[in-house]
Amino acid sequence: MKTTAFFSLCYKLLLVPGLWAHREFPWDDASFYYGSFPPGFSWGVGSSAYQTEGAWDQDGKGPSIWDTFTHRQKGRIFMNQTADSSCESYYKIQDDIKLLKELNVSHYRLSISWPRLIPTGVKADYVNSMGIKFYSDFINMLLENDVTPIVTLYHWDLPQMLQVKFGGWQNISMVSYFNDYANLCFEKFGDQVKHWITFSDPWAVAKEGYETGRHAPGLKLRGTGAYIAAHHIIKSHAKVWHSYNKTWRKTQQGLVGISLTCNWGEPVDITNPKDVEAAERYMQFCLGWFANPIYAGDYPQAMKDYIGRKSAEQGLGMSRLPVFSLQEKNNIKGTFDFLGLGHFTTRYITEKNHPSRQGPSFQNDCDIAELVDPNWPDLGSNWPHIVPWGFRRFLNFVQTQYGNPLIYVTENGVSEKLDHIQLCDEWRIQYLKEYVNEMLKAIKDGVNVKGYTSWSLLDKFEWENGYSHRYGFFYVEFNNRNKPRYPKASVQYYKNIIAANGFPNRIEVERWHSIATETCSSTTQILAAEPLLDHMQMVTEIVVPTVCTICILLSAVLLMFLLRRQS
Ligand SMILES: *[C@@H]1O[C@H](CO)[C@@H](O)[C@H](O)[C@H]1NC(C)=O
Ligand SMILES: *[C@@H]1O[C@H](CO)[C@@H](O)[C@H](O)[C@H]1NC(C)=O
Ligand SMILES: *[C@@H]1O[C@H](CO)[C@@H](O)[C@H](O)[C@H]1NC(C)=O
Ligand SMILES: *[C@@H]1O[C@H](CO)[C@@H](O)[C@H](O)[C@H]1NC(C)=O
Repeated sequence: MKTTAFFSLCYKLLLVPGLWAHREFPWDDASFYYGSFPPGFSWGVGSSAYQTEGAWDQDGKGPSIWDTFTHRQKGRIFMNQTADSSCESYYKIQDDIKLLKELNVSHYRLSISWPRLIPTGVKADYVNSMGIKFYSDFINMLLENDVTPIVTLYHWDLPQMLQVKFGGWQNISMVSYFNDYANLCFEKFGDQVKHWITFSDPWAVAKEGYETGRHAPGLKLRGTGAYIAAHHIIKSHAKVWHSYNKTWRKTQQGLVGISLTCNWGEPVDITNPKDVEAAERYMQFCLGWFANPIYAGDYPQAMKDYIGRKSAEQGLGMSRLPVFSLQEKNNIKGTFDFLGLGHFTTRYITEKNHPSRQGPSFQNDCDIAELVDPNWPDLGSNWPHIVPWGFRRFLNFVQTQYGNPLIYVTENGVSEKLDHIQLCDEWRIQYLKEYVNEMLKAIKDGVNVKGYTSWSLLDKFEWENGYSHRYGFFYVEFNNRNKPRYPKASVQYYKNIIAANGFPNRIEVERWHSIATETCSSTTQILAAEPLLDHMQMVTEIVVPTVCTICILLSAVLLMFLLRRQS
């Protein structure tokens, strides 16, 4: 027995750092892999309600914490911008579906605004029938156009009343309010929707909403708030999964999962065990925080160890990380039908011993430092770096950690700052090509990825960055009241990847690139002549009617004059 224990310990020690240190990848990071995705692979694009819909107070919608945050917290968002009107997608469903058809995607990821359906957040108060009708029409129209909806229940826009009355995700009562809301969605839309995401990027909800305060509701409860919020979010996810399993699965036969967004953490020095451990910890404090309870029944050991030790050093009687009871662990474990993954960039990680006396914080608990390689391509400080190989390692990590789960990539993309109407998004094309290629390599490694959602359909409100970061395949002219959309060059490129279901060969892929960039420069030139078009519009809207009116008046006067002469 002792020998077995010894061997299993060795095995674990090898396995954990193994992914970084020992795993051989058959194609090296630098070479491009030509090949196809498995048949039936689902290609899509995504968006979220608060970022695109606008109509923030229309047709009975209640305010969300993001409405309140953008209206009141001046100075925390780029140029104090809000998403009050954003892309006006609430009024432009048909236009947006046309854009989806142009890309010929198989799925569209959207989110439902909780306060649009239930203005106060509490279903027992009342349900807004206009909200139900809006999403019902939208979903039906997607299906009529052969686009599969993948629907997120919570993409950050908590009803403001739940924040005011209960403290939002700090309060355990959110579990039952969220469950009521989710059941309403299953009841109303579940015959049409077969892919449900409970939460989008709960890491950001907890950490930026309750620790740093960079996002709504803007609280800075350092070292405690994020852990409590996450605890309630995990319980909410599990509750909703069980509701679906018990009440709706039999008739609706859909899938319910969560969507987790994380960077990849690569050790600075792969031969230094401290760096390897630090990188592992970085992943556990992001991905494992949510995935480990759902796949293995509890918080990752690294989080329990580090937060527990720091709490003791700070003189607290118990860990700041909440504890699941045995019953809760059993209830949470296994609540997945698929895993949604968001991924944008990579960091190098090294150990950094924060002294406990600095006071409690998430940063302090994690004890790591993040670095970037100055050779990685980027657009300047504060912009994500393009590190495609990190995506493949991230996907492989998920496969080994959580027992080869069914994966949908729910978010992946890069933003650019494009001033005026500029449609040549060379940077996004490069990112798309290389990240999709690394995902293809990961699938060849054996990772079970069934779909890819490029982020995002439109330029939109990017939280603390306002409209300054443009993630869209379609450029949106926000200064224009009509919010016109224009295709960027990447539309052509993504269309080709989708049509070929991969990358056929070098010549073809190079041809896609030259066609995409040729069309974008000519389109940009045509749009540069836009003032002329505006002028034409003025002619039809003002000059023509005025001239007509004058003509009619003159004829009337002439007629009167003639009639008088006759009489
Ligand atoms: C944003 O609002 C703050 C506070 O009212 C103000 O000081 C700041 O100048 C505003 N910024 C812009 C760009 O309007
Ligand atoms: C769009 O996708 C469908 C199904 O994937 C395919 O049958 C069709 O040929 C595609 N249309 C175009 C114009 O590529
Ligand atoms: C949760 O909400 C209830 C009801 O308003 C309140 O009594 C309780 O103090 C809240 N708990 C927290 C942790 O805010
Ligand atoms: C899900 O529902 C099925 C059918 O009712 C049941 O057999 C199964 O135990 C449920 N799964 C979990 C994890 O509760």
